[in-house]
Amino acid sequence: MKSSRSEPLKKLPLALEYNARSQSVAILNQILVDTMTLRDLYKKHHWQMSGATFYQLHLLLDKHYEEQAALVDMIAERIMALGGISIAMAPDVAEATNIPRPPKGREDVPSQLARLLEAHEIILRQAHEGGDAADEAGDDGTNDLLVSNVIRTNEPQVWFIAEHLAETELVRSDK
Ligand SMILES: [Fe+2]
Repeated sequence: MKSSRSEPLKKLPLALEYNARSQSVAILNQILVDTMTLRDLYKKHHWQMSGATFYQLHLLLDKHYEEQAALVDMIAERIMALGGISIAMAPDVAEATNIPRPPKGREDVPSQLARLLEAHEIILRQAHEGGDAADEAGDDGTNDLLVSNVIRTNEPQVWFIAEHLAETELVRSDK
């Protein structure tokens, strides 16, 4: 994980071991910065979408943006509830994220969608691993957030995006 070790956790009567909380804060901060990056990637592509499927994808990407934004708040507030400090600002997010930085300019539609799917898979892999680690440490709340919210939000978004990558003249990049 790229997230740096943070300051000591606030004391809270949560019936959770310090080490369990500390591990969960590190896992959640990594997934937080990656979710913030995916959220912003959705807005980038919502704006920079083009082609015959423009309107449909413009709307779909904004819907996914809103769902990722809701996740960001849930993850950040879980970190605070565990006595940690959530990463918040863009420079810190950029420094810590595992999601590759996209170009500033507009990419073709298949590249935009492939980039979203790559980001989803990075987050899903970390959510599965982090969920298992939280479960083993006895942090049921973090496990539940990662499974019920992070995984269950990302999986159907992958489905909706991946279905657009079916071979069709409308989204071919090789003009
Ligand atoms: Fe918009």
